[in-house]
Amino acid sequence: MKSPNNESHKRSKEDFDDFIKKLELQALETAEERLPLYLEVGLKDAKSILDVGCGSGMVTRDIANLTKGKVVGIDGSKDMIDVAKNILKSYKNVELKVGDAEDLPFEDNTFDVVTCNLVLMWASSPQIVVNEMARVIKPGGVVLASLEPDYGGKLHFPENPKIDSVFAGAAIRARGGDPHIGRKLRLLFVRAGLETKVGIGNNRIWSCEEDKAYYLHARDFYVKALKDAGISQDKIDKWEYDYLRSLDEGVQLNFFPQFYAIGKKPRGRK
Ligand SMILES: C[S@@+](CC[C@H](N)C(=O)[O-])C[C@H]1O[C@@H](n2cnc3c(N)ncnc32)[C@H](O)[C@@H]1O
Repeated sequence: MKSPNNESHKRSKEDFDDFIKKLELQALETAEERLPLYLEVGLKDAKSILDVGCGSGMVTRDIANLTKGKVVGIDGSKDMIDVAKNILKSYKNVELKVGDAEDLPFEDNTFDVVTCNLVLMWASSPQIVVNEMARVIKPGGVVLASLEPDYGGKLHFPENPKIDSVFAGAAIRARGGDPHIGRKLRLLFVRAGLETKVGIGNNRIWSCEEDKAYYLHARDFYVKALKDAGISQDKIDKWEYDYLRSLDEGVQLNFFPQFYAIGKKPRGRK
């Protein structure tokens, strides 16, 4: 199996634990945009669901709560699957396994719904992952990719051009992700032979209080990204001071689009 090209790769124990906390917060804060999509793709009445790149299982738990069907979560990282097994231990309808999204260990036409959340951005070959998801879905079934951002569409004000350019893509690229995955979803899904609808899942601008809470929780990630981009500690301190002050003043605006794609496998297709 290829090593997943993702954030959990080669982390110290402390970094891994921080990443798990980040995924937990992210799952809570994005529930408002994910849950309507789960309902739209018919999760409630689906009998078999696959969550690809399930990570620590926080999002898989939302899926399991919304359906009486059987949910399978798969991830390339055994450490992630171990965390997910603990989080989901009381769920009788969930099975978790280690496996490669680029070579899913399932027969063709197995599932009613296949989901992935924030996975294509970190996948080495997103087209192969989408092709695989399309292969294992039943004809008439649906593939959903949620929360795939596009940092090129990031808006925020007041600005800091030097720092902003790091968060607008460089930091993601440096960690092996594709900061422009959002705009590519339509092509990936159509090429996989799916009848495709693309949209932006988040249309709400967060309040300054929400942005501040998120920043303080994820601060280590932001500061590390700036350090890795070669920004000096003085400049980081100054930026952070200004950023937090703008949030306390209630004048900061942040938005960046989180795309989703829903793809239906045509009934005639095997
Ligand atoms: C940012 S995490 C998202 C986890 C989870 N979906 C969530 O939203 O909380 C991305 C996950 O995708 C997994 N991943 C990336 N590429 C993969 C691949 N080729 N096969 C299996 N898992 C992969 C990583 O191991 C990681 O757990």
